[in-house]
Amino acid sequence: MPKTKSKKQATMKPTNKIVEALRVVLADSYALMAQTHLCHWNVEGTSFFALHDAFEQQYTELFGAIDEIAERIRALGAYAPGGLSNLAVIAGISEQKEAASATEMVKGLAKAHKKVIADAGNARDLAAAAEDNETEDMMIARVQVHQKTLWMLESFLK
Ligand SMILES: [Fe+2]
Repeated sequence: MPKTKSKKQATMKPTNKIVEALRVVLADSYALMAQTHLCHWNVEGTSFFALHDAFEQQYTELFGAIDEIAERIRALGAYAPGGLSNLAVIAGISEQKEAASATEMVKGLAKAHKKVIADAGNARDLAAAAEDNETEDMMIARVQVHQKTLWMLESFLK
């Protein structure tokens, strides 16, 4: 088989590894969105107004991103996981306490963002290896967003 043809096939037929990696990105992003929403509701203290608003911006951005990731999985010919219990099986993000302090909340969310950065980096690298430029591009963008949010959260903690 000529080299160009096998390259083209790699682009058109995504590996299951890419889909599996995207399902992890989706599940962890959903878990992070839910945790950020919980923090938006329950945060207390002198930084209430700033964090309440910041968390709303973060979960709103995640909601749109999750939809795009799910639809990318569909475009790759696979089904997208959904439902809280199904997503919880795939996700690897620990739950926040309802009565956590603002600092504990930000620390927990920062840790969760690091997990999603690792997930998206893995999906990005697998997509790059398979010459799936579109998935790679989407995952590069997700890493950028999560790195920016992580910078903000870590700045709060200093
Ligand atoms: Fe609200």
